[in-house]
Amino acid sequence: MTRLVLRWFQLGEHELDRNVRPVQGGSSMPSRNRETWERPPDLPGTHFVDAMAYSDPELFEEEKQRILARAWRFGCHDSELPDPFDFRTIDHAEVPLVMIRGEDGKVRTFYNVCSHRGAKLFNDLSGNARTKTCFFHHWTFDWRGDCVSRPRPQPYEALHLKAQDCGLKEVATDSQYGLIFFNLDDDAGSLTNYLGDALSAFEQTLTEEPVEVFHYHQAEIQANWKQWVESNMDHYHEWMHVMLRRTNVITEETLFHRKAELHSGGHITFRGMEIDYEHEGTIAPREQSKAMPGLTAQTFQATPLFPNTVLMTRGTVMRIDTTTPLTPDTSLVEFRGLGLKDDTEEDRMVRIRQHNEFWGPMSHNLPEDLFAAEQCAAGYRSGGAAYGIICREENLSAQDDGGMRHFYAEWSKWMGRSASDPKIITA
Ligand code: FES
Ligand SMILES: [Fe+2]
Repeated sequence: MTRLVLRWFQLGEHELDRNVRPVQGGSSMPSRNRETWERPPDLPGTHFVDAMAYSDPELFEEEKQRILARAWRFGCHDSELPDPFDFRTIDHAEVPLVMIRGEDGKVRTFYNVCSHRGAKLFNDLSGNARTKTCFFHHWTFDWRGDCVSRPRPQPYEALHLKAQDCGLKEVATDSQYGLIFFNLDDDAGSLTNYLGDALSAFEQTLTEEPVEVFHYHQAEIQANWKQWVESNMDHYHEWMHVMLRRTNVITEETLFHRKAELHSGGHITFRGMEIDYEHEGTIAPREQSKAMPGLTAQTFQATPLFPNTVLMTRGTVMRIDTTTPLTPDTSLVEFRGLGLKDDTEEDRMVRIRQHNEFWGPMSHNLPEDLFAAEQCAAGYRSGGAAYGIICREENLSAQDDGGMRHFYAEWSKWMGRSASDPKIITA
């Protein structure tokens, strides 16, 4: 522990020498009054976010219509639907959805509502069903979404309401590297165009050997959905983990080797960082652990996909977060942990332990990150906070805020509003 503290302070002094100069006037500078607090920062509009973007109910409804109802969104991984007739429900995507692997091997997504009188069809998170019979009046549907049975159908037939007109509503579905996405927009463009080269950093990891989800948990948080999305792009918050529980060590290697690559479509990849676990307050070093394909056991990289999903790896395990807005200031975050399908029992136990150490619900880092998102949300919800500053420029390395600026540039395109002044319609 002593060594960790020393390493941190060593870098602190180094940075202090290079960058920090005493503020003129020092502690005698006045605090700010309402007028100076509410005045927009003297920065380019791309470099700060207005409080309204996190808390305004009308803007939130607009986000749902303009972004979430039109973007490709991650639903689940291939391994969660391994067999024909496997299904998985998604409860918080504006409409309830169900993904089903058909007899033909293809995954389709449907509104999880009965076409008769709207009852929810599937109530379990996952399962296997060749057909699904609605509990209410027993209409039955198959894996193509076709209505295959209606008890005593004669009165419908008398009115020419045919079974083939009573199928389920299908939703656009496609996959890349085993990640299955859906899109609520019937006129959506292709997933391939949407993602571009955004998944290139994870291609080998996701495709060289079969990968499977071994961990899933949800957290409902008191924060706007973007505040959790930001936490995976904001590297300046590493100080929190250093200070709270010494679970990060910030060194020249971890700081300046990391680089953000900005993909078109608002997607980002952070990579180039190798973590020295021996000194990171972990249970055990990872040098001998089996890395995922294309990575070392020390690799840290992350790819936030616009708008609400992030892929992340710590070399021996992968994580996928999906953030779904519930209200302007509550969100559901789903966390998946992934390893190799052909793991030995021993390898899997190591992966589970290494996953849970940083990313499990009772881990070192995740609860701190969730706490931070909720604390920021409390500041905006109260009306106290006025702006979020995302202006750090470090050549897209170290703790540059360029990832968040890239996200908000895309957000602004979809919304037709600037994040720094959302009251103004720009497109
Ligand atoms: S609501 Fe489903 S069969 Fe009537
Ligand atoms: Fe964090």
